[in-house]
Amino acid sequence: MSLYAIGDLHLHFQAELKNRAQLKDRAWKNHEKKFKKNCEKLLSDSDTLVLVGDHSWGRNLSECEEDFAYIMNLPGRKILLRGNHDMFWDAKKTAALNEKFKGKLAFLQGNYYSWNDYALVGTKGFTFEGPFYLNGRGQIMGWDIKNAEHAEKIVNRELVRLRQSFEAARADGYQKFIMFLHYPPTNILEDSSGFTKMAEEYGAEYVIYAHSHGQSRFHDSIIGEKNGIQYRLVSGDYLMWEPLLIKT
Ligand SMILES: [Fe+2]
Ligand SMILES: [Fe+2]
Repeated sequence: MSLYAIGDLHLHFQAELKNRAQLKDRAWKNHEKKFKKNCEKLLSDSDTLVLVGDHSWGRNLSECEEDFAYIMNLPGRKILLRGNHDMFWDAKKTAALNEKFKGKLAFLQGNYYSWNDYALVGTKGFTFEGPFYLNGRGQIMGWDIKNAEHAEKIVNRELVRLRQSFEAARADGYQKFIMFLHYPPTNILEDSSGFTKMAEEYGAEYVIYAHSHGQSRFHDSIIGEKNGIQYRLVSGDYLMWEPLLIKT
């Protein structure tokens, strides 16, 4: 009955791989084989595995079929969160996806799933990622104001979805929460954000996120304990394709 998480599988059994960096980085060599092996070693069918977004390079459901088949064949209950590259997933049609894959895969976006006496809540999230303007010493001197304003709108929309998720769980009597975001909860300029504040407001025990992959991005946000909440980065290449045990 353990809870595991990992993100950014970026599978491409059918779809053409768009991120050339993924081909060059050794961490991604045969990553789907390593991940499957690790899952089979660690998980049993009574466990829950949350996949924290960026599942597939497929542009629509039919281009993701083999990627979904691979995920469905992994041991345990699989819950998928929406990532920025998940083109198959229309944010307004999460209920339809849950209907289509009923009993096989569960899709988390503004709804919630139970795990023991915890509610697993979540949404894609969002963070402003620049461009940032640096001086010769690599210090941030400014950033793209227009992009930052646009990001704020998306952040606010995602906060509404996250609150829906918490409120749905709370209305059903849940008081213990584990919160999932695809994007990091803060960007490199922030100590806190609407996401960290909401985690604190509802008393989430964990905030689990992905999206930051590649060595240079691993420390973009909070890792470890902050204000009583445990923050964990679970992008696949950070974990070297071994799902992280969150709780037993
Ligand atoms: Fe990703
Ligand atoms: Fe991402």
